[in-house]
Amino acid sequence: MNILVTAGPTREAIDPVRFISNRSSGKMGYAVAEAARDRGHEVHLVSGPVALPPPDGVSIRRVVSAEDMLRAIEAELPWCDALVMAAAVADWRPRAPAAAKLKKTRMPLTLDLEPAPDILATIAACKGGRIFVGFAAETGAPEEEALRKLKAKRLDLIVANDVSRPDAGFDVDTNVVTMISAAEAAISLPMQSKRAVGEWIVTWIEERARICRR
Ligand code: PMT
Repeated sequence: MNILVTAGPTREAIDPVRFISNRSSGKMGYAVAEAARDRGHEVHLVSGPVALPPPDGVSIRRVVSAEDMLRAIEAELPWCDALVMAAAVADWRPRAPAAAKLKKTRMPLTLDLEPAPDILATIAACKGGRIFVGFAAETGAPEEEALRKLKAKRLDLIVANDVSRPDAGFDVDTNVVTMISAAEAAISLPMQSKRAVGEWIVTWIEERARICRR
């Protein structure tokens, strides 16, 4: 299969030297990409700014903002059979980023924000027969909110993680997730490496593709 994976944070500029971002390290998305590559799939990775080396055998596009990530995904969509959105995309961005560095004395104490593009919601209309997998990063019991996002974003699967746990979520090598399908079947996985979680996700996609071909 041709599998498109996103990873890492996005950065939304305040001015040329400052931005709004989040704690995503890219580890989860890179682990999915590597797991898919090792199963023999063709993998393209769209990565926000992270400190990880590019995985061997995976074609990588580097992006900065939510807008850049949306454009990269729209370009890759016709190519892919499945999309895994592990990236932590900004929900808001500064409405009017300054062209020059804001002087400390002139820096506003509040930021005027607007919604950043919701990538999954934007591309939902072009889904066709593709398999779309999203993630839900929540603090506390993530399943209920994950189910809402699965339906709102027309996903086939959502991978819910409780990012308030020290062994799960942002910038650690392990994760604790519940995979919830559109049929509302849930698989809760114990704490394990992000690479092992990636293998579960790839297996789910392969199985789903097999069912769809029947
Ligand atoms: O990168 P790591 O340090 O390894 O951390 C992994 C992770 C915590 C980032 C990852 O496991 C994870 O949960 N990624 C999704 C984070 C997130 O943005 O969740 P959300 O609940 O805000 O978004 C729901 C889904 O919509 C996600 O698939 C997201 O990619 C997508 N989204 C979100 C915002 C937006 N503007 N456009 C989107 O498409």
